[in-house]
Amino acid sequence: MKTMIGVIGGSGIYQIDGLEGASWVKVKTPWGAPSDQVLVGRLDGVPMAFLPRHGRGHVHSPTTVPYRANIDALKRLGVTDVIAVSACGSLREDMAPGDFVIVDQYIDRTFGREKSFFGTGCVAHVSVAHPTCPRLSSACAQAARAGGIKVHEGGTYLAMEGPQFSTLAESKLYRSWGCDVIGMTGMPEAKLAREAELCYASVAMVTDYDCWHESHGAVDVATVIATLTANSSQGRSMVSRLPGLLGTDRAPCPHGCDRALDNAIMTAPEM
Ligand code: ADE
Repeated sequence: MKTMIGVIGGSGIYQIDGLEGASWVKVKTPWGAPSDQVLVGRLDGVPMAFLPRHGRGHVHSPTTVPYRANIDALKRLGVTDVIAVSACGSLREDMAPGDFVIVDQYIDRTFGREKSFFGTGCVAHVSVAHPTCPRLSSACAQAARAGGIKVHEGGTYLAMEGPQFSTLAESKLYRSWGCDVIGMTGMPEAKLAREAELCYASVAMVTDYDCWHESHGAVDVATVIATLTANSSQGRSMVSRLPGLLGTDRAPCPHGCDRALDNAIMTAPEM
């Protein structure tokens, strides 16, 4: 099977450097329109697809991002491996602004979003015990480290609904739960990627200390954008190393991400 890398770019990542034969394509899905057209091309001989999560111009809020359409659009284009890049706040002293966290667990506190491709007509329950792909996550860590970025491999991401940032009491509560970073877009994206049998890795770029840290003020958009602007070239350089690390040919996922539905469907086939 051939590799095709899909990159979902968060705030601050709106392009892929050096993409050959790049063109924006419109993808239709039964779940509505994706956040934007998808930029497709090749990098080091590997097909790539890039989708800005919030749309060019940042027009979708974390609640209104069409997560199902986005994952489905990438699947329809033939994407096998999804790298989700996003901004996040840190809930730990040692995860500082500028660091990258390769998320491997989530606590999903979102409530205003469609979270599944399955419902009436076909019911399925996939496992998200390990919601990210370890093989893809370690390629992301390697790619980021090669660019001189401080990388934390593994971290629990608190997915909040937003769009407001947390209250101080919430921020302290999430710390007491053992969460490492906080963001607004990690869910249900990771769950939907699993339902779509895609390998999925989450690269969370730390932009702030949320509001719990006594020596830092409460988070605001200006702080988030300033840190993202300072780090977006590192994010893009991580992405540019991935084709070389993943290669053009792809074996079945050793962790079974590409077979997630094998034992998940409840509905009888004849229904
Ligand atoms: N994105 C970036 N920083 C954040 C924070 N502190 N909380 C939620 N989402 C964020």
